[in-house]
Amino acid sequence: ALALILVAALSYLLGSIPFGIVITRALGLGDLRSIGSGNIGATNVLRTGNKGAAAATLILDAAKGGIAVLIARYTVGEDAAQLAALTSFLGHLFPVWLGFKGGKGVATFLGTLLALAWPVGLACCATWALTAAVGRISSLAALVAAASSLVWMPLFGAGQMLALAAVLSILIFIRHKSNILRLKNGTEPRIGKKS
Ligand code: G3P
Repeated sequence: ALALILVAALSYLLGSIPFGIVITRALGLGDLRSIGSGNIGATNVLRTGNKGAAAATLILDAAKGGIAVLIARYTVGEDAAQLAALTSFLGHLFPVWLGFKGGKGVATFLGTLLALAWPVGLACCATWALTAAVGRISSLAALVAAASSLVWMPLFGAGQMLALAAVLSILIFIRHKSNILRLKNGTEPRIGKKS
């Protein structure tokens, strides 16, 4: 039990590092919270116009989730790996450093999936990329990719992770409440558009 508590705490701390904020501050790109959607994720970092900063945010926000899963797997085991996925994801959504007001979890979700069950992770990344290529809207791609994980998991023999994927997907949908409203109104901006 102590090992699981340590895994949960370490994973939360890893997940709570807000790379979007760290990178935009370090590069002097302005206050992410007053740009675009105000979100701390890569999509909003891209609205500063700095593609490298957006790519770095995407990769690091994904990597922190993946690394949490790998540490848990190799120190404790497979149940701990799922716990690490959940707690690193919650760290990104509710980081203590930002008064528990964090991000929407998409990159961290993809990173944890790649580490938990890489075929599922790749399928979700491909789903995101395909939806984004067609629709040019990041939030729409995120919602479709999150929902698709529930199909890819049983299909790729990772059905034992279905409950976890369901919880993470539901949280992603809840965090995209304002995006979903804008999608309904047809006012959700396309990828890379400044406002
Ligand atoms: O990962 C978040 C993305 O799906 C939407 O970001 O800034 O457009 O709300 P944003």
